[in-house]
Amino acid sequence: MRILIIGASGTIGRPLCSALEPRHEVIAAGRKGRDATVDIRSADSIRALYESVGAVDACVCVAESGALDRFEDLTEAGLLENMRGKFFGQVNLVLIGQHYLNDRGSFTLTSGIFADEAWPGVTGGAVISGGLHSFVLSAAIELKRGLRINAVSPTMITDSAEDYGHLFPGMVPVAMDRLLAGYTRCIEGRGTGQILRLYGA
Ligand SMILES: NC(=O)c1ccc[n+]([C@@H]2O[C@H](COP(=O)([O-])OP(=O)(O)OC[C@H]3O[C@@H](n4cnc5c(N)ncnc54)[C@H](OP(=O)(O)O)[C@@H]3O)[C@@H](O)[C@H]2O)c1
Repeated sequence: MRILIIGASGTIGRPLCSALEPRHEVIAAGRKGRDATVDIRSADSIRALYESVGAVDACVCVAESGALDRFEDLTEAGLLENMRGKFFGQVNLVLIGQHYLNDRGSFTLTSGIFADEAWPGVTGGAVISGGLHSFVLSAAIELKRGLRINAVSPTMITDSAEDYGHLFPGMVPVAMDRLLAGYTRCIEGRGTGQILRLYGA
């Protein structure tokens, strides 16, 4: 398969590329991407990305993230700004990409545990990931030409525990190999409309 990975240089993206590259042609993208550049905050940039890379069988997004927030200071504008990258960026990768992917191609989006569990300081992240789950369910029944869509919803990853563990005391991280297996299942499997919840050890 030709697989477009957006966020290929990140904590998840790097090992994901390494896991897929022996079996597939990987196009590594990001704002400073190895093979292609894109800023998913811009619909024009997403359109230019699809035009430049040509036909692909899978589009995987492991880019952006939800910002931390303080509920007492949260505003509509702040929430919208937070949603522009991880939520609207991924939504646009699908809305625009549905016209570019090969027949029976797949989209794999990344959400996160805050969709399902309340933790302090992540109202924006919760809304983003919850919204992504609803989007995946709708898109799965709407997409044409056998296109599939799934989301991987990780808890904190072991590789990030040193940096973020202090913010979420008691959160049990997920191992990278289990996470990579989830992405592989979405890309190489046949499922659609699935939310792979990778929470706990
Ligand atoms: N790490 C965790 O523990 C964890 C847990 C749950 C969920 N997640 C989710 O998993 C996803 C990836 O997380 P990560 O930890 O791998 O992130 P990361 O290490 O910060 O990497 C982010 C990647 O996205 C790219 N990127 C950032 N903004 C972009 C934009 N506007 N357009 C295009 N590319 C952009 C970056 O490359 P450039 O700088 O070149 O653009 C980089 O390759 C995020 O949605 C995150 O919320 C992560």
